[in-house]
Amino acid sequence: MEQPKIDIRRLMERINSLGQIGRVDGPNGEWGNARLALTDADRDGRDLVMAWMRGLGMDVVVDRIGNAVGTWEGSEPGLPPVMMGSHIDTVRTGGRFDGNLGVLAGLEVVEAMQVAGVRPRRSLQVAFFTDEEGARFPPDMLGSLVYVGGLGLEEALDARDASGARLGDELERIGYAGSMPCPAASFPAAFVELHIEQGPVLEDEHITIGAVTGVQGISWTEITVTGQSAHAGTTPMRLRRDPMLVAAQIVAEARATARRMGGTQVATVGRMEVFPDLVNVVPARVTFTVDLRNTDETRLQQAEQALFAFARSMAADEHCDLTLRSLARFEPVTFDAEMVDLVESTSRSLGYSVRRMPSGAGHDAQMLARVCPTAMIFVPSINGLSHNLAEDTAPADIEAGASVLLEVVIELANR
Ligand code: GLV
Ligand code: MN
Ligand code: MN
Repeated sequence: MEQPKIDIRRLMERINSLGQIGRVDGPNGEWGNARLALTDADRDGRDLVMAWMRGLGMDVVVDRIGNAVGTWEGSEPGLPPVMMGSHIDTVRTGGRFDGNLGVLAGLEVVEAMQVAGVRPRRSLQVAFFTDEEGARFPPDMLGSLVYVGGLGLEEALDARDASGARLGDELERIGYAGSMPCPAASFPAAFVELHIEQGPVLEDEHITIGAVTGVQGISWTEITVTGQSAHAGTTPMRLRRDPMLVAAQIVAEARATARRMGGTQVATVGRMEVFPDLVNVVPARVTFTVDLRNTDETRLQQAEQALFAFARSMAADEHCDLTLRSLARFEPVTFDAEMVDLVESTSRSLGYSVRRMPSGAGHDAQMLARVCPTAMIFVPSINGLSHNLAEDTAPADIEAGASVLLEVVIELANR
């Protein structure tokens, strides 16, 4: 028996192999992934990760929302297991680390322990959760939300993508409508998710590890403004009911609201559809999304109220109709203090610089935090980029994060 050690070459090989599935090449040599949830590429990625799990002697099950959990039995399998994991779906222009790192580092932790001949008391689990990104089927973190009982299975299976495809049908189509109950019948003793930061803070401060204190609140709303489609040349300006004008005012106000509020408030309009989308036609309808986030629930509600009141008033001025549809709404989450301490002290004891920080992005860990003590470990993102093909993290930082994960999991699994 020796000291288990992360093999960074093995881990990078798995990251790069999974990245070949749904690979997208950018114009300047950067490359990443398009593996939107429940597409053929997602299926192929799932197949590969499941094969790796089985290759490590893990028992793999899939639940009714398509979450996959591999288990490597500990020496006292009657004890609740320690779970690692994240997601392997990506946005359409995603990197190869977002989510994938947390899953593949989990496999590396298992393999490192196996190679060293170390078997922990508690079983170790590695999970990947369905549709974390929510980019195809809102809300985000859908699979882990159903796993913990925060959203009904049937409601989740009925989620639709922008083309009208039903989540449950797509799950069947790719062969991942499993048979395990969801919500799960029992929950792990603890959950630990390694993830890239996806922002610039760690790199900027030359710090290797983020001990994540919690996740900020997330509010996604789809806004539809409906006006009167008309001829661009013949309709006098004073007689127009132009939903594009209203949409543009709301987009600008989203930025102004975030500026005015300051603090952690952010606001993003990332999707917009114009009908009929023609050069010489005043649009009939504009549909777009607003993503608002804040670490403080009261402030997040203030941002929502201010922006939506502005939206209604602009629509009224232009004699347009306005509808708001909530796509996702999650309050801020605070992680278990002892788990945050454990990540911080483990990082220090391994000689890595570490800082506490909130997460700006949503993560499966925020759902698992509802049912068990949960921690997240962040590693730096080069240039702070994520949800971008150029997303990247230095192998030395990946190794550091995976090593912290290994030590934290050994500690938790032997308790
Ligand atoms: C999901 O991962 C998000 O933060 O948008
Ligand atoms: Mn992610
Ligand atoms: Mn993401």
